[in-house]
Formats: sequence, structure tokens, C-alpha cells
Amino acid sequence: MTITALNEAITKVTADAIVVGCYKEGKLSTTAAEVDTATGGAISRLIESGDVTGKRNETTMLLAPTGVAAMRVLVLGLGERDKVDRAVAFEAAATAAYQIAAKQRDRVVMAIADEWATDVIDAAVCGSLVGCTNQDLYRSEKNRHPIGEIIWNVEESQLEGGRVLGESVNLTRRLVNEPPNAMYPESFAGFAQEVADETDLELEIWDKAKLTEEKCGSLLAVGRASVKEPRLVMLRHNGGPKDQAPIALVGKGVTFDSGGLSLKLGDGMLAMKCDMAGAATVLGAMRAIAKLNLPVNVIGLMGMVENLINGDAYKLGDVLTARNGKTIEVHNTDAEGRLVLADVLDVAVTSGAAKIIDLATLTGACMVALGNDVAGVMTNDETWQSELQAAAATCGEQVWPLPMFDDYGEQLQSKVADLKNVGDGRWGGAITAAKFLENFVGDTPWTHIDIAGPAFAGKSKSWLEGGGSGKYVRTLVELINRLA
Ligand code: BES
Ligand code: ZN
Ligand code: ZN
Repeated sequence: MTITALNEAITKVTADAIVVGCYKEGKLSTTAAEVDTATGGAISRLIESGDVTGKRNETTMLLAPTGVAAMRVLVLGLGERDKVDRAVAFEAAATAAYQIAAKQRDRVVMAIADEWATDVIDAAVCGSLVGCTNQDLYRSEKNRHPIGEIIWNVEESQLEGGRVLGESVNLTRRLVNEPPNAMYPESFAGFAQEVADETDLELEIWDKAKLTEEKCGSLLAVGRASVKEPRLVMLRHNGGPKDQAPIALVGKGVTFDSGGLSLKLGDGMLAMKCDMAGAATVLGAMRAIAKLNLPVNVIGLMGMVENLINGDAYKLGDVLTARNGKTIEVHNTDAEGRLVLADVLDVAVTSGAAKIIDLATLTGACMVALGNDVAGVMTNDETWQSELQAAAATCGEQVWPLPMFDDYGEQLQSKVADLKNVGDGRWGGAITAAKFLENFVGDTPWTHIDIAGPAFAGKSKSWLEGGGSGKYVRTLVELINRLA
């Protein structure tokens, strides 16, 4: 897919389709008005008949209209004119692209930008790339067809931000959508290598021997029963001054979570290829941060393991020693994400991180609390959490805070070790998980994002195919950008 800038009149451009915007109460955008005039009022008539209302993400296709060179005109609802922000623009552009990509199209003009601010254009261009990209990676007959050339009615110089974001979100989605026979710690490290090759990111990979030398006993226990050995993947973006302590982005990368001996039941296991979405989000965000040259030092840390079963699998009652020296009694091998993160968070701390964000498909309990579309955020530093919340709100990616009261942490006391890896019973499970993680970040300001719900969608939306969502890549990039 290439993204280019429109340099012809909208009515004269030859294309498979042109997309024009319509606001609420049927107010036409600049390009829609031009098309309306050229077609002898085709859009106006549809507004009068009530077919076009301008409601957000409403789509109305005009086929082979006379008066314009393009084969089709898609009238796209944008809602209220003064409420077009990043979220509106992203969803609308993605909705249009999603619909057009039902068939193979070589040239599509997205002419909905209407004196928009740079950040809104970025979100829209990003959406146009995300909308026409599908999870049908291994289908012979594709459901969606990436658009050959997407032509935007903005200046050439305004395309780069959205292009980088869109490609990076799609990278995260693709990594999550890869099946677990293709996506395992070593192959994920290979994808990270590809990203490092196309950017200035410095890559370091810890294999099993190095993880052992580094005393990552908690992470290693989880990965022990798989023939696919674990990896810690580290990417450094040196965008800031040499002496600036980096921001650490940490991701849970369980490439498949069977639950281990605390085995998951069939239905619950099927989606568990998504359990590396935290790591995939970090990789996507690091790519964008590097490509956009953000002037901040950032380190991405991805803990990659497969949680399986064999004769050497870690067991209930095992006591593990984490990298920071704390001992953990295993009460449930399906609460493995926190065991992986325990060591990776400590690597972030000892790397001298100024602040930490971690992303993890950590608990089903977070989905019970907040549903499928909202990530839970938990922190040891309210200021750092509100910065993250503000970045997410600007991007239209939903997060909601859960409390970190001490009582939840008390549930993690073990009779034989410093900690056990689950709370008492299932209530408040998202929070007890976060309280567990808190033991491994020391005094470093840290915010945890539980993305178990939003990382992977069972159902498609008008703007996004189901499967890996790529959600929070844009939030992370925005957060780092705000620190610049
Ligand atoms: N990977 C799962 C959490 C998950 C569930 C992610 C559904 C995405 C969708 C995690 O490792 C897990 O199994 N958590 C357990 C924790 C429990 C054993 C304390 C859970 O949520 O049931
Ligand atoms: Zn699990
Ligand atoms: Zn898991």
C-alpha cells in the first residue's frame, strides 16, 4: 500500500473510488460540495431523501456517477463538524477503507480532510491503512484487499506521521494475528530484528543461557516446558540527550498460554495466541517512535515465552526466585504473565529506567470489570498514570483506572515464600495481579495497562476487522511525544 498526496481536482481524478465527508445535519465538506456540484446535486438529493445524514461512520456509495472521473463516490459520515478529533477521523477513515477493501482496488482517493490539524490528519491517514488490513493472513481467498494506492487530499509533507503510525499499528496487529505455530519467542525476536534493520533501534536479545546467567528464574520457569526457548528482546531508541534516563516500555510476550498444569479449557485456550499482544504493542510503538525520531530515550523490553506442559513443567507449589531476589510460591501456572513480567520489570529497573509502562493481556478479571474495549490502568504513581490517561484520551483509546489499595496486596502473602502468584479467590483479580507486579518495580514510577479485553477482538467493527487490534500503539507514541 502506498500513500500519496492528491494534486488534481477531485472531480477530474481517475480512481476506483473517491471518499468525501458529510457532517451531521447533512452539511457537506469542501470536497463533497465540489462533487455535489459536478454531479448535478447527487449528494444533496440523498440528504433530502434522508439516505445521507452525516452520522459518524455512515457510508453511502454512489456508483458510476456522471460528472466525476472516478468510478465510485463514497459519502462518509463525520458527525458534528467541530467535534472531528483524532478518534472520529481514525474511525471514519478506517470505516471507509474497510468497506472499499471488500474488493481489489488500485487507486482510492480519501478526500475527507477539511482544514484539519496535523494530529487529526495523522490519525485519519493511520486509519485508512488500518481499515483495509485484515486478519486473513493464511486464507487463499482474501476477505479484504489492501488498497494499492491511497491518495489523500493533504500536502505530501503531512503524510509521514500517519503512514508511520498506520504501518506500526498494522505490524502489531499482524504479530498478534500470526498463529502460535509461526509466532514463538525466537520468531518474535526475528520480527524485532527486521524492525531494528529498518530503523536506528539498537537490538539486544537474551537467549536461555543469558537469561539463566541473569537469574531470570521466574520467567524461565514459565517457559521451561516448551521446546521453543524463551527470549528477552530489548530495543533501544537513543533519541534524547546521552545522560537522559530512558522511559521503559515493557510487554508480556506469552506466545501461547495453555495455562500450563492449571490447564485452560478448550474455548478459553483458542484465543491465547493473543497473549503476546503486550510485547507486540511495544514492538509496534518502538518502531513508530524510532521512525518519527522522537527526541526521548526509550527502551522496549519484551519477555517472550510459551506456557506449555511437559515432564519438566513448573508445578503448583514450586518456589521460584525472581531476578530481584524475591521468592514466589506458584499457586496457579495460568497466572504466568506476572511471573514473566516480574523479571522483565526488574531488567527495566536495573537498566536505569526513569519511568515504566507495562502492557499485558494479564487477567480475565480485567475484562469482567471493564469489558472488551477498555484497558485497566493501575499504578504506584498517580501523576505518571494521569499522563498515560491523557495520552490515551487524545488518541480515543479507552483506559480506566482501578485502585491499588494495600489490602489487595496482602492477599499475596505466602506461608513459604515472599509472595504467592495469585490472590485469595477470583475477586479483584486484575488488581491483585497489579499488586504482584508492584513488587518488582522498586521506587520507579510505573503504570500497568491490562489489555486482556481490547488487545484482541472476537467481532469486527465497521472500522476494524476482528483479531489483533493494535490498540495502544498510538497511545504509547503520543505519551512519548508529550515527554519530548
Ligand atoms: N492470558 C491470561 C489472561 C487473558 C484471559 C488474556 C483472556 C486474554 C483473554 C492470563 O495468563 C490468565 O490466564 N490469567 C488468569 C489468572 C488467574 C489464574 C489468577 C485468569 O485471568 O483467569
Ligand atoms: Zn495464563
Ligand atoms: Zn497469559
